[in-house]
Amino acid sequence: MPTTVWNHNKIAYGGDYNPEQWPEETWAEDMRLLKLAHIDTLTLNVFSWAMLQPSEEEYNFEKLDKIMDLARSNDMKVCLATSTAAHPAWMARKYPEILRTSFHGIKRKFGARHNSCPNSAIYRKYSVKLAETLAERYKGYDNIIAWHISNEYGGECYCENCEKAFRVWLKKRYQTIGNLNRAWNTAFWGHTFYDWEEIVLPDARSEHIDEDRTVAQAISLDYRRFNSDSILDCFRLEYDAVKKHTPELPVTTNLMGAYKPLDYMKWGKYMDFISWDNYPSMEDSVSQIAFHHDLMRGVGEGKPFILMEQTPSQQNWQPFNALKRPGVMRLWSYQAVAHGSDGVLFFQMKRSIGSCEKYHGAVIAHAGHENTRVFREVAALGEELKALGDEILGSTGTAKTALIMDWENWWAVDYSSGPNVSLKYQKEIMAYYSALHKHNIPVDIISEDADLSQYELVIAPVLYMTRPGVDERIRTFVQQGGTFVTTYFSGYVDESDLVILGGYPGKLRDILGVWVEESDSLPDYKKNRFCYQGQDYEAGILCDLMVLEGAECLASYQEDFYADTPVITRHSFGEGKAYYVGTHSEASFYENFMADICKQQQIEPAAHVPDGVEAVKRVRGAQEYLFLLNHGDTSADITITEAGKDLLAEKDYQKGDTLTLPAKGVAILKN
Ligand code: GLA
Ligand code: ZN
Repeated sequence: MPTTVWNHNKIAYGGDYNPEQWPEETWAEDMRLLKLAHIDTLTLNVFSWAMLQPSEEEYNFEKLDKIMDLARSNDMKVCLATSTAAHPAWMARKYPEILRTSFHGIKRKFGARHNSCPNSAIYRKYSVKLAETLAERYKGYDNIIAWHISNEYGGECYCENCEKAFRVWLKKRYQTIGNLNRAWNTAFWGHTFYDWEEIVLPDARSEHIDEDRTVAQAISLDYRRFNSDSILDCFRLEYDAVKKHTPELPVTTNLMGAYKPLDYMKWGKYMDFISWDNYPSMEDSVSQIAFHHDLMRGVGEGKPFILMEQTPSQQNWQPFNALKRPGVMRLWSYQAVAHGSDGVLFFQMKRSIGSCEKYHGAVIAHAGHENTRVFREVAALGEELKALGDEILGSTGTAKTALIMDWENWWAVDYSSGPNVSLKYQKEIMAYYSALHKHNIPVDIISEDADLSQYELVIAPVLYMTRPGVDERIRTFVQQGGTFVTTYFSGYVDESDLVILGGYPGKLRDILGVWVEESDSLPDYKKNRFCYQGQDYEAGILCDLMVLEGAECLASYQEDFYADTPVITRHSFGEGKAYYVGTHSEASFYENFMADICKQQQIEPAAHVPDGVEAVKRVRGAQEYLFLLNHGDTSADITITEAGKDLLAEKDYQKGDTLTLPAKGVAILKN
């Protein structure tokens, strides 16, 4: 059997099930329905802390025991959660220190969820104790395939516990107050600290203008790192607790794609496998969804991940919660698998009767029977995934192209006071990703610290912060023949947001062969223009004014006092090439620019397919699986270039044959 992230012999199918919210008499009918839908995996116990621990001294596992037995006797695999994302009310009453304090300094009361201070000793003590108790109690259940720690970790806290812990974290990072003063450039605005106790958290009461704007970038940046680390510590403590009793069981927590507050690239190093929750809005483009899957695979350093949650149909928490149109749930499920998921799990198995998620899509509707569109679609997909068996499991991507998306850089770029409020890191990342995605070029998403040697093309949009070692890795990569692309607002600062002196783009200057003397910042309504390979494109946000230092000019500005000066350059450096794009342009530019570079470097798409069809490949040894996903509203004809068998239609195709994919249709060609 091919190895996958956990002990399962097929693509896992199922998701969050909360029988503790229902009378026991209803459970048997739930099981009948779930089995009818070919569900084989249940995520249990996500929000049961209050049930499991009625008071400080008492634990009560009576109901969970029954639920665990129900799952086992119905041959369900279990992804067992530790329930620590919502602490019990009695705990908040007895120990108010476990409650978070908001950015505006408001001490929270009991309520909602994800409301525990990550640095509260009491929260840590009791969450770890619960995790360990669960592991000890249920270790004998061989149908448990993973631990699901907490749930969608996130947010931040500005309480006194956290302030104290911040000082400890800073001492570890800087050792002396002198080092801290230098890193934070505290000579500015008289911020010099003489004692660690003088340091306070950067929030609305101190350094911040609002959540996104700070006057002390280095302090706010360290707070971001600290907050991400604090929450990660909570995960790691529970991780260690469950491993004591179940060392073989893989441990995960469900991530949320490009979730800014947590440095997932760092988190990934501590998780046995990555899982994540995919909730696109109806307006999200196909490439945005694809990007998040690729990002999550990147966080797991390329290994398969698990789609832990998606809705079978509608959500409840968006302003407008459209139904997934017929076929879309299936299509998006296979899209997740195409990009590396070995599971298709839903939130939720059954609609609850009360509170905010009662209108969130579920396999079992309030009608309570199998005669619904959603149920039929879920059951049909379940049957297909069952028939696929262990095909695809454990296979990985094929990318020769990497896109750098780095959380610390993200925080630093978005905190920058000037040069332009429209400059947003995610927007620039998506500009390049969408272009590559449109051409079906496989992409790995990596952090600044990743090894580049396995790639031919590395793209680093707005690589503003160059931490120690980053320029060396890029220099070696290009010298050895790699192609590197970066943009305006790159190479400016070090890890403390201190400017690297001597001219922009700092340590990348010799690699790129340009010196950026100035950068013009344009409002959204004002554009410059340039001509690249015979076509005119707009230039906006920032327009770099450059002096060539060995690079050649590929395109020049057409307007303003810097007309005829370079905007796009290429530098031959060692065996490779380094491109610099000195502005932000429009989608058609990125599409053409990326197509040119890929052509020159002979980087091939997963397949040549018509517009609207996404092509993605997974491989395991010599075994290739080509996913063809028609996101369009009309059928598409695809000319087959490599013989293969469509695993879903059980049909063979020879080279030159035409495969007709209906609207929202999927094919998986196995070579
Ligand atoms: C998140 C949570 C779930 C549920 C869903 C609803 O992903 O993890 O508990 O609230 O959202 O979309
Ligand atoms: Zn706190």
